[in-house]
Amino acid sequence: MDKLSQAFNFRHACKQFDEKKKITPDDLNAILEAGRSSPSSFGMEPWHFVVVDNPELKKQLRAICYDQPQVSSCSHFIIVLYRKANQFTGQSNYLRSVVTRGLANKDDQTAIDIACQSFINYCTQEMDSDIAIDHWSEMQCYIASTNMMTAAAYHGIDSCAIGGFQQDRMIQILEKNIPQFSGQSFGIALCLAFGYRVNQPKEHIRWPLKKICTFL
Ligand SMILES: Cc1cc2nc3c(=O)[nH]c(=O)nc-3n(C[C@H](O)[C@H](O)[C@H](O)COP(=O)(O)O)c2cc1C
Repeated sequence: MDKLSQAFNFRHACKQFDEKKKITPDDLNAILEAGRSSPSSFGMEPWHFVVVDNPELKKQLRAICYDQPQVSSCSHFIIVLYRKANQFTGQSNYLRSVVTRGLANKDDQTAIDIACQSFINYCTQEMDSDIAIDHWSEMQCYIASTNMMTAAAYHGIDSCAIGGFQQDRMIQILEKNIPQFSGQSFGIALCLAFGYRVNQPKEHIRWPLKKICTFL
């Protein structure tokens, strides 16, 4: 079996991690690089990754993830944030910095305005509310999250996606621990627990291809 297929086979939603085993800085970097290099709509990279290693903080987070043991037993817990709609207006520093990266003359304010406006025109046509823009942004973060889990599996590291968390309470914890962080500008797309399994996984349950594919 090729290495990528082996990684897909290896990955499962790990429910209990070995608390004594830590992910090395090189492996953690490889996981984060997989997130960073992910594709995103318009290349907006609307994500930010908060990496939690602190045991006390992981304990607090477990409480607001419905007491799921993965959250405190994992080596590293990554909170995948999405940028909210207010970061994609013509005046927003984030949108302006993204479009500026692609310009030959990075001081050309007219070119920056035009590039921002072209993106905003798309938003206006395709997304009719801030909620729709938030959703669009959050979807990109799922792509980065998936790539991070696959990269981890490639390196023999287990993971569990954690969608079961209390959004408001997690935002409060982040506001308390990260200077200048605001829940006005970021939402939480998904959390990812990474570490090393204690138990062997059950066999994957999946539909056969013929049930989920249509070939035209
Ligand atoms: C968006 C998302 C949210 C999830 N949330 C949780 C969660 O909160 N807790 C958990 O144990 N597993 C969670 N999972 C893992 C799924 O339950 C798991 O992937 C699915 O049951 C298939 O099992 P497998 O990944 O082991 O093949 C989540 C998966 C996804 C994609």
